[in-house]
Amino acid sequence: MTLALPVPPVLDELPTWLQPRIPDLFSPLKTPCRLCCIMQKGGTSKTTTTVCLACELALMGFKVRIWDLDPQEGSATSWMPPQTGVSGTPRNLLHMFKGEASPDEVTYPTAVPNLSIVPSYTSLKQAEVDSEIVGVEQGVAWGIENSTETFDVEIADCGPSLGKLTVAGMIACPELIIPLKASGLDMRSMTSLNRTIELTKRVQPKLNRRAVLLAEVLKTNLTRAMFDLMCRDFPEALVMGVRSSTAAREAPLPHILKPLHEYAPEATVRLDYQFLGAALVERRTA
Ligand SMILES: Nc1ncnc2c1ncn2[C@@H]1O[C@H](COP(=O)(O)OP(=O)(O)OP(=O)(O)O)[C@@H](O)[C@H]1O
Ligand SMILES: [Mg+2]
Repeated sequence: MTLALPVPPVLDELPTWLQPRIPDLFSPLKTPCRLCCIMQKGGTSKTTTTVCLACELALMGFKVRIWDLDPQEGSATSWMPPQTGVSGTPRNLLHMFKGEASPDEVTYPTAVPNLSIVPSYTSLKQAEVDSEIVGVEQGVAWGIENSTETFDVEIADCGPSLGKLTVAGMIACPELIIPLKASGLDMRSMTSLNRTIELTKRVQPKLNRRAVLLAEVLKTNLTRAMFDLMCRDFPEALVMGVRSSTAAREAPLPHILKPLHEYAPEATVRLDYQFLGAALVERRTA
């Protein structure tokens, strides 16, 4: 099973075994489409992938909206803060869940043209535990269906858990992108991820493992073994590595705070996300 798409020259320098694997039957999604970055293990590049992929899709000309489903600090909201024009914490996803704001009222432009965000803050933890906030699991899907403004791509960034918010992400955005690291511990956590995906399929039968990313890949035997394993276990998914680069760590720093494509347009990690965007979503013909 080899590439159905040409590999951009920038990926040529990768060893053959680390070239992206695009199955023969894989075809890019047509818009509108809904993507969800999910992996309950912490620090596997979900947020980096969400933000960088969203930016690449926005650069391709799509209208993109990020749903930040992670109550942690250091989430997508902190890298792509909403442009509200006023100070203080803006109305956010929690307000929508509680019925205190409409989906349009919690959707804000970001500094990147074509890219909007539904922000979240640490207060979002309430949505996991407060039994009076009903319908959280269906809440994001409801938000998308009840937005006046429409988007070509909706993309959810899940936190490191398999709780209600992650299930809400999967129900709303069934095309799953699973970033993990080449490590035995990450590999072992796939069992519970797969179980949750199968259970969620009862309410969202369209759930599909669209892409598996090996984050911060190193050219090691372990990476090679995991890459082969992911290709075997996810025969219908795009499997690719995302290279490690200090630029990915620096771009969200408070004194830099730029999207990766502006901060380090030539960085290998940026080129990998550019490739991912082009492979995942079909470019519009003029
Ligand atoms: N390709 C990369 N090269 C170098 N560093 C990276 C890369 N991708 C992510 N990182 C860094 O790895 C750390 C974890 O990344 P990130 O926050 O995106 O993971 P996450 O899965 O969203 O974490 P969490 O589970 O806490 O939500 C961050 O410090 C980030 O800057
Ligand atoms: Mg994150």
